[in-house]
Amino acid sequence: MTKIVILTGAGISAESGLGTFRDVGGLWTRYDLSEVATPEGFARDPALVHEFYNARRKNAAEAIPNAAHAALARLERAMPGAVRIVTQNIDDLHERAGSRAVWHMHGQVGRARCAACGETWAAPMVMRPDDPCPACRAPATRPDIVWFGEFPYHMDEIWEVLRAADLFVAIGTSGSVYPAAAFVQDAARAGVRTLELNLEPSETVNDFDEARHGPASEIVPAWVEELLGG
Ligand code: NAD
Ligand code: APR
Repeated sequence: MTKIVILTGAGISAESGLGTFRDVGGLWTRYDLSEVATPEGFARDPALVHEFYNARRKNAAEAIPNAAHAALARLERAMPGAVRIVTQNIDDLHERAGSRAVWHMHGQVGRARCAACGETWAAPMVMRPDDPCPACRAPATRPDIVWFGEFPYHMDEIWEVLRAADLFVAIGTSGSVYPAAAFVQDAARAGVRTLELNLEPSETVNDFDEARHGPASEIVPAWVEELLGG
């Protein structure tokens, strides 16, 4: 029975060197989101989109999990079966830090998907538009990423565990993209306690029962230490 549901965003990976999206210098200040993170952009220029995610995949492979990722893995080990991470991140830093109960609602940059038959597989480091699908052979491969306007993965499971939890924690997310940005309100309506751990107040900070601000590598381990009784 999941007791703690933890939503993470780009901010938890920032100190591992992976850029966020809307901070100063964030990805959406350097790339046009509509060109590289929408189905329309992929239809227009698949090579550009693969180039963008090839760079994301390389960066993610070279990144190292930080103390915040390690603290969440420690929490899961200390509370077997009671912790669920729902991440908006497409990197695998939670898994590489040791977390097992992780759902990637925006997909994973390390996986590929066939735009023709829907098959998914582990992506090579460099993907090209006409790479053949291993199942149907169609030259229609895309990154297994959920783009703007597409529906996230795991939503039914997420709503279920969120409403039955004791605590909902949001870490390193600006609260600017839905449906993740509405999780705190849904949790609160179900009587779940809510906590924001972020570098600075998010757009939804006022919806949380409690908020602590600072670098994730500091405030997440401190929160886990406190929760586990030192
Ligand atoms: P939305 O309206 O929920 O969110 C769009 C947000 O993106 C806005 O709040 C704004 O902050 C930002 N945004 C939009 N255009 C931008 C631009 N040109 N530059 C910088 N920021 C910009 O978006 P939506 O279309 O309803 O998409 C929500 C769905 O898409 C959800 O299912 C979500 O899971 C998915 N999604 C996936 C990704 C991804 O890259 N994996 C990105 C965003 C959303
Ligand atoms: N520690 C904690 N929080 C941090 C840190 C840090 N070291 N650095 C940045 N942050 C916070 C910022 O204050 C900001 O609130 O992380 C948040 C990053 O916000 P965004 O860049 O909007 O990233 P995110 O919330 O994950 O975006 C949601 O939008 O474009 C899509 O798919 C993309 O999953 C992403 C979604």
